[in-house]
Amino acid sequence: MPPLAAPLLRWYAGRGRHDLPWRQTRDPYRLWLAEIMLQQTRVESVKPYYARFLARFPNWQALASAPQDEVLALWSGLGYYARARNAQVTARIVVEQHQGRFPDTMAAATALPGIGRSTAAAVLASAYGQGQAILDANARRILIRYHAIAADPQQQRTLQTLWSLAESHTPAAAHDYNQAIQDLGALCCTPRRPLCGQCPLQNGCQARRQGSSDTLPRRREK
Ligand code: ADE
Repeated sequence: MPPLAAPLLRWYAGRGRHDLPWRQTRDPYRLWLAEIMLQQTRVESVKPYYARFLARFPNWQALASAPQDEVLALWSGLGYYARARNAQVTARIVVEQHQGRFPDTMAAATALPGIGRSTAAAVLASAYGQGQAILDANARRILIRYHAIAADPQQQRTLQTLWSLAESHTPAAAHDYNQAIQDLGALCCTPRRPLCGQCPLQNGCQARRQGSSDTLPRRREK
């Protein structure tokens, strides 16, 4: 398999969005909150909410003991309010069952409400330096293009393939790699009209070689 991590990390060092607020911290609470807010919401929309939320609820204890109305009010406008309710339940579980520390295993992290495998991986890699692979929409799109995967990405079998590819590319300490995947997906390997000529992965990318970068990932069947 052609190497992906090395050219991606070189590109990230020079072109990454190092000024994003959640790139300035290794505090698990701040990293977790960012990943929850970013689940269905764009970076630019998240930024002001993230700052206001952290100013009012700077840690697990503050969020766990807040009135739910206040939590929802600070989330108001971001959408997907189940995320806010789940976030507060998570804060209470962290305080009451994990001694105020975000759990450091995949099993315990994915047992928290609103935290799937990819979100858990992002937090564990960033907070604790683990080598956990992510597979969110950006990572999926990049891997599908890089390996020219034409199978239906909604299928369980394709997802399994993508998870193994994600794991095989991910370095033992995955923080920078996972962030780099986000930035490549946002700045270069975009859903429409990817900027392949500027991509650090263009030499190893099978979709680029086949001329299919514009048509992969395959669109959902109707
Ligand atoms: N989307 C999900 N997680 C992200 C992150 N850590 N940085 C930028 N965009 C993201």
